[in-house]
Amino acid sequence: MKKRLLRLLFLSGTIVTLLTACEYDFIVPTPPPPPPPAGDTISFSQDIQPIFTAKCVTCHPVVYKPDLTAGNSFNALKTGSYVVDSVPASSKLYQKVNTGGSMASYITADQVGLIYRWIYAGAKNN
Ligand code: HEC
Repeated sequence: MKKRLLRLLFLSGTIVTLLTACEYDFIVPTPPPPPPPAGDTISFSQDIQPIFTAKCVTCHPVVYKPDLTAGNSFNALKTGSYVVDSVPASSKLYQKVNTGGSMASYITADQVGLIYRWIYAGAKNN
């Protein structure tokens, strides 16, 4: 009886260890941020383009599309379907700059938040 109990304890310990080990084996996708407050206003020209100009244009379009230079960026993002305002978190632009995306190292979390809010508010050319 005592032996069985010990074996059970040992087994459950192993299971717990295995389960916790698994947690680190998978990359858990970051959940989409909470919806911005109603009436949230983000301006493409005032809030978003300055991020592209400061952090992205050395490579876009020089190295790769989309063209993120002022005057070209909005059309490049819209025609290339980089923004999906009906499901903001599925936007390629957002996924690339968000944690885990290949562009995440070029941008701060606050700036990613601004981009998300801009897409959420309808990705307007405002
Ligand atoms: C050092 C150069 C460099 C910088 C800086 C850079 N990118 Fe990129 N970007 C690339 C390269 C190379 C690719 C293609 C490989 C990939 O998708 O990771 C790319 C791909 C992308 C894509 C996907 C394009 C596609 O059609 O699949 C998006 C969107 C993007 N970058 C946005 C940004 C944004 C926004 C910034 C600024 C915060 C930025 N990038 C900064 C080099 C750069």
